[in-house]
Amino acid sequence: MRLVASLILCAALTVSDVYPEGCSHCWLQNRSRSKRSIDFNDVLKLPAYRMPRDLKPISYQLEIHPSTKNGTFRGRVSILGVWPTEGSRIKLDAHEDLNITDVTVKCLNVNTTDTWEPADIARRQHNCQKSEYNIDLEQWFVPGRKCQLNITYTGNVTSSESAGIFMNSYLDTQAQEHTFIATHLRLNNARRLFPCIDEPEYKAMFELSIIRPVKMISRSNTPLNYTVEVPNDPTLMKDVFEKTPEMSTYQLAFMISDFESISPTRSVNPSETRKPLEIKVWGRREYLSTLSKVPNKIVTIVNYLQHYFNISIGLSKLDIVAMPMYTATKPSDNWGLMFFREGELSSPLVWNTAYELIYQWIGQRVTPFRWSDAQVNKALNSFLASKTTVDIDPNEMEGKWPMTLLYSLYYEFGKTFPFSRVAGIRHEAVSAKTELVFRMFNYTLGEEMFRKGVQRLIHESSKNRSFYANDIFAHLDTVRIQNNVTLPDDLTISSIAAPWIFRDRVPLVTVTRDYETGNITFTQSVYLREAAPPSNEKMSYQWDIPIVMINQDKLNFTELKTNFWLTKADSHITMKDTVDKNKFIIVNPEEIGMFPVNYDMCNWQMLSEFLQGPQRETIPVLTRAKLLHDAWNMAYAGNFCFEVAFNMTLFLKNETSHVVWEPFFTMIDHVGRRIQGSEGVYAKFEAYIFSLLQPLYKNQLGEIPQQNEPSWKVHMRGLAKNFLCRAGYVPCVNEAEEQYKKWMKDDEPDEGNPVANEFICPVFRWGTMEEWEFGLQRVINFPQKTIERKQSERTYLLKTLAGCPADKKKIERLLNVTILDKNSNFSDSDIHLVYSTLTGSATGYSTLFDFLVDHWDTVKQRFENKKHLWNGIVNSATSSFSTQEGFDMVSELYASKQREFDTADSLMDKVLQDIDQESKWNERNVPVIENWLKKHLGNKPSELLSYARQTTTVSPMAG
Ligand SMILES: *[C@@H]1O[C@H](CO)[C@@H](O)[C@H](O)[C@H]1NC(C)=O
Ligand SMILES: *[C@@H]1O[C@H](CO)[C@@H](O)[C@H](O)[C@H]1NC(C)=O
Ligand SMILES: *[C@@H]1O[C@H](CO)[C@@H](O)[C@H](O)[C@H]1NC(C)=O
Ligand SMILES: *[C@@H]1O[C@H](CO)[C@@H](O)[C@H](O)[C@H]1NC(C)=O
Repeated sequence: MRLVASLILCAALTVSDVYPEGCSHCWLQNRSRSKRSIDFNDVLKLPAYRMPRDLKPISYQLEIHPSTKNGTFRGRVSILGVWPTEGSRIKLDAHEDLNITDVTVKCLNVNTTDTWEPADIARRQHNCQKSEYNIDLEQWFVPGRKCQLNITYTGNVTSSESAGIFMNSYLDTQAQEHTFIATHLRLNNARRLFPCIDEPEYKAMFELSIIRPVKMISRSNTPLNYTVEVPNDPTLMKDVFEKTPEMSTYQLAFMISDFESISPTRSVNPSETRKPLEIKVWGRREYLSTLSKVPNKIVTIVNYLQHYFNISIGLSKLDIVAMPMYTATKPSDNWGLMFFREGELSSPLVWNTAYELIYQWIGQRVTPFRWSDAQVNKALNSFLASKTTVDIDPNEMEGKWPMTLLYSLYYEFGKTFPFSRVAGIRHEAVSAKTELVFRMFNYTLGEEMFRKGVQRLIHESSKNRSFYANDIFAHLDTVRIQNNVTLPDDLTISSIAAPWIFRDRVPLVTVTRDYETGNITFTQSVYLREAAPPSNEKMSYQWDIPIVMINQDKLNFTELKTNFWLTKADSHITMKDTVDKNKFIIVNPEEIGMFPVNYDMCNWQMLSEFLQGPQRETIPVLTRAKLLHDAWNMAYAGNFCFEVAFNMTLFLKNETSHVVWEPFFTMIDHVGRRIQGSEGVYAKFEAYIFSLLQPLYKNQLGEIPQQNEPSWKVHMRGLAKNFLCRAGYVPCVNEAEEQYKKWMKDDEPDEGNPVANEFICPVFRWGTMEEWEFGLQRVINFPQKTIERKQSERTYLLKTLAGCPADKKKIERLLNVTILDKNSNFSDSDIHLVYSTLTGSATGYSTLFDFLVDHWDTVKQRFENKKHLWNGIVNSATSSFSTQEGFDMVSELYASKQREFDTADSLMDKVLQDIDQESKWNERNVPVIENWLKKHLGNKPSELLSYARQTTTVSPMAG
């Protein structure tokens, strides 16, 4: 009966054709034994919840014998487990590549503790789709009984990726090939190496043996216990490693190679273990000299972390390997044996190494209970890595932590619909927010208390040395209570954290001082930079916000304390002001909480004046940056007029810190994009920025890059130069033209481009028509089907030809060639690229608009059968206008051609609506900006812009 049923099942599986060869041995019958204690069919009739999920593993004894010659390995595993509930089925994870040849099971007699008895197997089945291996026993077991399974099998050593068990090779300078084997079992690739219960919560001890060639070495998580010869094969040796502590399957790792090692000259401080941690750095022989500084760097970081966590990694040794040809995106942070890409390990930087090392404690010594708990692990480690780096080498973070992370969150969360364009980054954003929440608690609880909380996580993760996502917050709370730190309204660390982490918004705190009554009011609302979404539901979000306040009398930024919490229950709080009315206050200094702050005008004005004064630097760079950032973003969002924001930029002429300059470059970009349609104002705006950037570029950064300069300098020079070149700074344009000449003089200009990308845009913008035309010809004659030159080169050229010119003629020419001439060198996607690029500049989209109006019928006919191109050109030509004048032009076109828009008709409502909104923004802000610029530039613009090239179409003095 049963036989028939299983045959049918087999047939069905074969037909479905999804199971590869090694798996077709489904429902193997065990015919040699017939004894059974319970009818198997009865077992199957039992309700599902009584079926035990697994035999809970206690230990694995594992022997692996890989062969690099044919890319396979033989394995033997002996699993000792205990029945957690009643049952008879053992369910293991086994990858479809594993070819399980033999299984035997024996169990401890129910009445004694030392008599093992064989257990009969009713059937076993490899479900390849699910990577499962099920063994049904003929007996029914009661909870607490122990069984041992011996499984022999073969498997594949992959060479196509650095996952599971993989092999690779490198060539030495004698062109000799050296092969090596290693593992990368995270997340669930242990099942490629051995049948097991491949979930993090099932921890067990591992005793690993590796059979390897005599001339190689092997390493694993734990130290080598002993080595023995392999009977009958003098070319092989067997290494047996010490038993590991209890750990998850993904933590297991080994490597077989001919790598050599170097040791640090300093040793790790002893900790709770008897002996200090032994550190070795491994690599191919010829790479070791490149790694020479790594061991001591690792000792420095390990000592820092061991002190911070007040505990060792929990093993007696740590091997760190620079693995040639390693292709996984992340290093493999296995407990006691880490694999890095060569270049990543040899880098002198601290952050990345620290980040990976922290996993030896949080992620290896203690582990996330399930994979869903790993997110908070990542965020905590990332925070701790930044802290470690700041403490070990403050220069490395260039003062920008956490600004880079934080400001991009502010921009995203300030949108009408956050993540509407790229949903994928939402996941990353949760992680980034969690990291910033840790930073917030590090300030609000204080470093020491925060550290105690993290220590508790490691020392007291009780269940199996595993932790749940929320545990860290619970531990922080315990420490807080032990230290008698109270929070209002029964708040807990975890209840405070959740809204910060899970909402796609951040709060805005508005601070209003009433200078008559001497009161000060704090209000929270949802921070927005764009129009509010149509549904108001999410606009009522509230947070528990730590208010840290500093005033002009006591500018002490080293001991920042939470003055009070603005809780979810309070939409606002009013209290007596803390300082004289002639002195400013700063709220949320150093970006302690993830929120921008707005003040009343007087406080902004006092801040602006102070920042222009000699004491400016008593306010640290991150806070100076924040003040500038918050000011212009408030104005941008319409919370106050731009005058205040521009006043806050005045101090930049004395500013030397790149950290403070950073948000200003974003301002140039964002504000510039909005006002570029108002030609006269834009020219003044450029002139003002020119007046700030030119001295920065010439005096502070230096026009010529120096050797070994810090990366921020390179970055800043790039930003400044990019702007100055756009604005037509003569030395820059001349240099670019000089470089470009090389190409123009080339006899075979289509064989390759000798000009660096940075020079191309300035030439197309400010250079002659002839220079631009030469570029166009290079696109037209770009060799097809060549491997030397990539198509991306052509795309870049075409984009710069369209996006850079400040001269209508160039753009008209491009449109004529691509659209009217039907030049076959331009594909539909080229045409699409051209006009979507034109939307980026005012000259671009207004020329496109004129072109469309002038050639309406021709264009329409040309795109008769290509609706996406028709819709695209209409959209690109109309949607970027931002002034009333633009609105009128587009409406007029729409009215006059009403019936001729065809498929593009449906776009026009939205287009007009968007222009209307933009032009309202401009109406509100442009006059204010213009007045401010007039007042502060006086007659300077002409003088300033004499440094700049002039074209006939853009007159800096217009308007
Ligand atoms: C699995 O083992 C069987 C029996 O030894 C053999 O016939 C088959 O080729 C093996 N399959 C793989 C994928 O190694
Ligand atoms: C691969 O090589 C090993 C050792 O040389 C050998 O035992 C095994 O049978 C080989 N496997 C195959 C599939 O050829
Ligand atoms: C498994 O193998 C070990 C070592 O070879 C042996 O001592 C043990 O009895 C075996 N157990 C089973 C269930 O076959
Ligand atoms: C265990 O002991 C009980 C009572 O002494 C006995 O009835 C039973 O047969 C024993 N079971 C086995 C498997 O020896």
